[in-house]
Amino acid sequence: MSDLGALTTPSLLVDRTRVERNVARMGARIAGLGATLRPHVKTHKSIEVGRLQAAAGMRGITVSTLAEARAFAAHGFDDITYAVPIERGKFEAVAQMNAAGVRLAVITDDVTVPGPLGEAARQAGVTVDTWVKVDCGYHRCGVDPEGPSLAELARRIGERTHLRFAGILAHAGHSYQARGPTEILAVARSERDVMVAAAAHLASAGVPVPAVSIGSTPTAMGVDHLTGVHEVRAGNYAFFDVMQVTIGSCTADDCALSVLAAVVHRDPKRGTVILDAGGIALSKDAGIADADGVTHYGRVLDVEGRDLGLRVTSLSQEHGVVHVRDDALLTRLGVGARVRVLVNHSCLTAAQHAEYVVCEGTAIVGRWVNHRGW
Ligand SMILES: Cc1ncc(COP(=O)(O)O)c(C=O)c1O
Repeated sequence: MSDLGALTTPSLLVDRTRVERNVARMGARIAGLGATLRPHVKTHKSIEVGRLQAAAGMRGITVSTLAEARAFAAHGFDDITYAVPIERGKFEAVAQMNAAGVRLAVITDDVTVPGPLGEAARQAGVTVDTWVKVDCGYHRCGVDPEGPSLAELARRIGERTHLRFAGILAHAGHSYQARGPTEILAVARSERDVMVAAAAHLASAGVPVPAVSIGSTPTAMGVDHLTGVHEVRAGNYAFFDVMQVTIGSCTADDCALSVLAAVVHRDPKRGTVILDAGGIALSKDAGIADADGVTHYGRVLDVEGRDLGLRVTSLSQEHGVVHVRDDALLTRLGVGARVRVLVNHSCLTAAQHAEYVVCEGTAIVGRWVNHRGW
């Protein structure tokens, strides 16, 4: 029996060799394109993965929660961008972390923010780096790159004595709509070009832009050049996942995250097996439909990592349903059998678990904490 056979299920497995390879490749790629990499650690929330990224040449990190910021700061990561728009409930915490010696930068797309944020910074006796969030086409957050509020917001930040205008920042989340290298490249070029043009527009309006920050995993993997861009904030690439395989930004061999599950029920008449990994263990992210149009919650592998050609097709809280047409496979997947589910969206699955079981092949080589929460 492999080491994995002794684990309780469901357990979150991470393949260390693949993580090392993924972070080394992205580190070399972004350096080769002349920009710096500020990885988004929301994907893994793990100090150990952050250290691997540091060894691969990153400069600073991006976080999605103040819990991540606190955990990484406590382990010596002192250059952090909190990349969810800031609001007043977090001004004091941000100011206090800056006062404690962490460069915790924030982002905003709202003209009402710089005044009170600057006041909180003044009271703490610190200067807070503040980015203007720009909508480069995703249409989630951000100011219009061609509208008047971009310059107005940058000026308001610059006017506050205890804020520093850090630059303009965008995330091309619409890259997840792309399929294949040509479509990825089109989104990557537009993310870059929209932001470089916005910086030029600001400069011509008398507002120099210290830095341009962009990033998503598909665009970072596909972009052809980064002229005019200072930093890239890709995150998912540390683990990749089935969604990235479907988009075309990685191969299945790059995917480092899976959930070990046990078969808890087999129904030969229906041709189904039920796993003890449901919506809680996998997340309910249905990812992107396969090329054949099938939506699912992850690919089913054997314990050694070989693709069994099966999908988790539906979920309830602690149950995952898998249809098995092949009789020999159905016989093999009796109650108690172990499989691995290669996850659709590694960021969301990882955040469901308190820790990673770190593997090399089927050998367990460690445990990493996931710093969840807010
Ligand atoms: C603001 C921001 N920057 C960067 C990223 C990293 O993108 P990805 O996970 O595609 O690498 C995200 C992901 O959600 C994000 O929201």
